[in-house]
Amino acid sequence: MTVHPIRIAPSLLSADLAHLADEVRAVEQGGADWLHIDVMDGRFVPNLTFGMPLVRSLRPVTKLPLDVHLMIVEPERYIDVFAQAGADHITVHAEACPHLERTLAQIQEAGCKAGVALNPSTPLHALDYVWHRLDLVLIMTVNPGFGGQSFIQATLPKIQALSQALQHHKPDALIAVDGGVSPQTAPAIAEAGASVFVAGNAVFSAASELYAQKIHAIREAAASARR
Ligand code: DX5
Ligand code: ZN
Repeated sequence: MTVHPIRIAPSLLSADLAHLADEVRAVEQGGADWLHIDVMDGRFVPNLTFGMPLVRSLRPVTKLPLDVHLMIVEPERYIDVFAQAGADHITVHAEACPHLERTLAQIQEAGCKAGVALNPSTPLHALDYVWHRLDLVLIMTVNPGFGGQSFIQATLPKIQALSQALQHHKPDALIAVDGGVSPQTAPAIAEAGASVFVAGNAVFSAASELYAQKIHAIREAAASARR
């Protein structure tokens, strides 16, 4: 069985946007593994956030991989520009991609790792016939659109089933979990088989001098479930 290292990806959605470069440096120094950037279009989800200029501006500020989560319709229109802006991983929603295999190929041809995100009510069948393309699967554990929501427990069996399916179809692909991740929810998530923990509120609701502690707490809680 392939076991992937635990990675913590703070979500900038909950950061202090007036001091974003400082926030990024603080989580980088605090031990973050990736930076999660939530792109929302007001159509796929009922909220608006960041676009390509933000990715371009952050690229020189940090060495961390930029993990771009596209919560937008027609993501294929923007993949190449996000890649050029400096994205390392680009994750699209299966629900927004009628030609999912083609869109994942486009991400990989642009030089990025390709991810598929699934809303809480979307079954794993959405991944059938694209296993070969998967670098990452992002299991939404809240309905996307906002930070600070409660973790949906009903998603745990889905993470577990995905973990088993990936062992068979694509063992090097990572399982990331996004929404309501905290030191309280991390053990069950890790036990189910995820290795990437996206966390907004659980990191950024603290004072910046505590980010390292918050990141460490999620990592330790996840690791405890593996011991
Ligand atoms: C929600 C976003 C998440 C969000 C998570 O639609 O995709 O990345 O920032 O926030 P928390 O960790 O606060 O639930
Ligand atoms: Zn996200």
